[in-house]
Amino acid sequence: METVHTIQWMKELAKNALVNERLLGLVPTMGALHEGHFSLVRAAKHKCSPVVVSIFVNPKQFGPTEDLKKYPRTFEADREALASLGVDILFAPTSEEMYPAGFSTSVSVKGLSDRWEGRARPGHFDGVATVVLKLFEIVQPRVAFFGRKDAQQARIIRQMVTDLNLSTEIELCPIVREPDGLALSSRNVYLSPEDRRAAVAISRALAACKECISSGERDVARLLATIRGKLESEPRLTVDYAEIVDADSFEPVRMIRGNCYVLIAVMVGGTRLIDNAYIEPEAGAFRVLL
Ligand code: PAJ
Repeated sequence: METVHTIQWMKELAKNALVNERLLGLVPTMGALHEGHFSLVRAAKHKCSPVVVSIFVNPKQFGPTEDLKKYPRTFEADREALASLGVDILFAPTSEEMYPAGFSTSVSVKGLSDRWEGRARPGHFDGVATVVLKLFEIVQPRVAFFGRKDAQQARIIRQMVTDLNLSTEIELCPIVREPDGLALSSRNVYLSPEDRRAAVAISRALAACKECISSGERDVARLLATIRGKLESEPRLTVDYAEIVDADSFEPVRMIRGNCYVLIAVMVGGTRLIDNAYIEPEAGAFRVLL
């Protein structure tokens, strides 16, 4: 595996892949890699060659009071893990390389970026869209792999790809969870043992919602009452939002009729955790993917 720190060299390698008509796959990450990230890498390896993984803790997507400084950084372990997974190129630019003095462009996907995570974290999705567009331009991937864990982020990136006629195909991968249901996240390391136990209430709430939908419930107010009941029974959790939204517009729905997301965001002892379930029509009923 080649580790690349400069944009110029990364562009050179990407150009080589392009002229040799190879199917370059990109997995963008902020490092502190876990099985969720590795599942994206495996999906990329399955479909693409060469596979590029980027590690860049993007300052533009962190608010002034957020955890940029303390965000976990485990570069050497990440590099070893990626090499053993057969990744071809690790692209790890510095902040100065990505945002030199005078950098002044921002990509903003309006509407979709304003609600849910965007409301809680002003400017966050502009930072994400800006860095992802830069990564796409530098790495020139035919396919880029994202996790459904960050459903709103994935939807915003898809909109950017459509609006700006980008040639990269976006592939979404399922959420990877701990055996007890907690969705893997680089931020889980912040949780105290008590908070870690309490956090399981999030996936339990999603599982309860899934049960209700399987039993035929379609009324969102009733589904949300079940979800909130589960979340609020755990005193260590503070619910930021729990909603069921249309999978395309991310606007709340009243009845389950088509593709939707159940979105949950909570605070647990100072750590913000998000999770979701994807609902899709299947053979006259609905399938719920946790
Ligand atoms: P990061 O949080 O490192 O996540 C990188 C990718 O891994 C994202 O596509 C995310 O959805 C996916 N991922 C995280 N946890 C997952 C899980 N439990 N199961 C499946 N996939 C999971 O998301 C970012 O970085 C950044 O915003 C980035 C897109 C790299 C732009 O800076």
